[in-house]
Amino acid sequence: MNKKWWHDKVAYQIYPKSFRDTNGDGIGDLKGVTEKLDYLKDLGIDIIWLSPIYQSPFVDEGYDISDYYQIDEAFGTMEDFDTLLAEAKKRDMHILMDLVINHCSDKHEWFQKALKDPEGEYGDYFYFRKGKDGNPPSNYRSYFGGSAWEKVEGSDYYYLHMFAKEQPDLNWNNEKLLKELYDMINWWLEKGVSGFRIDAIINIKKDPDFESFEPDGLDGLAWVWRMVEKVEGVGELLEDLKKNTFERYDAFTVAEVFNMKENELSQFIGENGHFSTMFDFSAHPVFDKKKKPYGSTAARLEIMKHVLFQSQLKCENVGFMANVLENHDCPRCIDRYLPPYAQNDTGAKMLGTISLLFRGIPFLYQGQEIGMRNCRMESIDDYDDIGTRWEYQTAIEAGATEEEALEACYHSSRDNARTPMQWDDSPNAGFTTGNPWLKTNPNYKEINVKAQLQEEDSILSYYKELVALRRSPEYREIFTYGTFLPVLEDVQGLLAYERRLGDKSIFVFANLSEKEITVRHNVLAGGRILLNNLREIPTGEDEFTLKSCQVIVAL
Ligand code: GLC
Repeated sequence: MNKKWWHDKVAYQIYPKSFRDTNGDGIGDLKGVTEKLDYLKDLGIDIIWLSPIYQSPFVDEGYDISDYYQIDEAFGTMEDFDTLLAEAKKRDMHILMDLVINHCSDKHEWFQKALKDPEGEYGDYFYFRKGKDGNPPSNYRSYFGGSAWEKVEGSDYYYLHMFAKEQPDLNWNNEKLLKELYDMINWWLEKGVSGFRIDAIINIKKDPDFESFEPDGLDGLAWVWRMVEKVEGVGELLEDLKKNTFERYDAFTVAEVFNMKENELSQFIGENGHFSTMFDFSAHPVFDKKKKPYGSTAARLEIMKHVLFQSQLKCENVGFMANVLENHDCPRCIDRYLPPYAQNDTGAKMLGTISLLFRGIPFLYQGQEIGMRNCRMESIDDYDDIGTRWEYQTAIEAGATEEEALEACYHSSRDNARTPMQWDDSPNAGFTTGNPWLKTNPNYKEINVKAQLQEEDSILSYYKELVALRRSPEYREIFTYGTFLPVLEDVQGLLAYERRLGDKSIFVFANLSEKEITVRHNVLAGGRILLNNLREIPTGEDEFTLKSCQVIVAL
């Protein structure tokens, strides 16, 4: 395998709106990111992915871009961005932009022109189709609910939007549009960004016939991803994209891909794949509480182990996945993945260790390193997220009480990850001196960076050690290129694996269960523990004991 500059890096996602506000308007900004670069450097971060900061009406929090060449004024100016880039470079850190090119905002100039003339030049930048017998062209349900087709007032045309109606889909069959997109991407690369996180990219390939599917809900609609699963040929578009942009700059790309076809893995992330890597979301469905067959959270953890192991093994000779526990679209990992007995510092450290030492490129999400938690909101008005609002509404329409619907939001809302970053115990967690755009989690007095920097046993101190171990000159190579081998996979409640390179091996043993576990393994016979999330030190020649949620890394 050819070595690449990003293989041994550790990445961190910033959600700029909630990271750090320096001008008191309640919205995080780029100056705030620059201010915190030293904090991130100290944590051991090499690559920073910024969620969208382009000009946007913020219907979907910046994932609806109205000008790809402008920084939204809520975040600052292009000069602020250049400063951030330069300061990051000084610290040997890389900046990734979020690339949202499946769709743009309905306020983008292209769409405004298209609306005026759906049959004209800009109309072809999008998907305008005539309705059928007074109905939309097909029965697709958008990812955010409701029809994926929006009627153009005063005409027979509808336009396609796989996400919100304010996010019209771009037509990747239009050469002129592609050139505009490629030029824009190269413009950012010329500026000095090191690459992109690529949003919702699998959706760019459409079936031009827009065939309807058997309805899968009472609304008579079918999820639009059914088309994505069926249509062939996304690879050609992705290859063309890569050749015309990323490849020319040796840029790092991490793709958000759902619904990929099984046999496409090597085309996506293999040696000359479309992307450098893509997120490993394989555990997601296991924790979708609506999917009942998986049972209790503890049972789900056990299934997660097998699912993640499968994923690790599948990629072994293919490429690198990007390992994530959290992002801006998910609830916090402690609440999501851990059963009640593990929802504590020890459990958080255990999860972090498992994820960061897997083979692949680790991504942390802001606040994960201090164990930020889901946030209870008092009413639906406290939520901002478009997806949450739709889910709430659907629950109410299906007969749920307000209380029940809010409880569901507490567990699943994307806003759980978007509450302000908790820096200290001053009002609004030191995020802003103004009114934060989204409620601050009231637990900030206990959970914050400042306090955890001072505590030797805090989640933050542990994460620092963990990242340092992964990046240390002695073990960097093995954690990067070492093979992944499951260990004692059939032992219930134990998640253990080996990373092996040449004649060197490092083991990770985690006790997922509520009870103590005896591990029949001789790693500690003459071996050494490199990291341990508890003070109790396991010993034993042929076996050793791990407390509930204890994890050790041993050599
Ligand atoms: C991706 C983003 C999500 C956004 C969607 C539409 O899934 O992560 O936040 O809503 O794409 O752009």
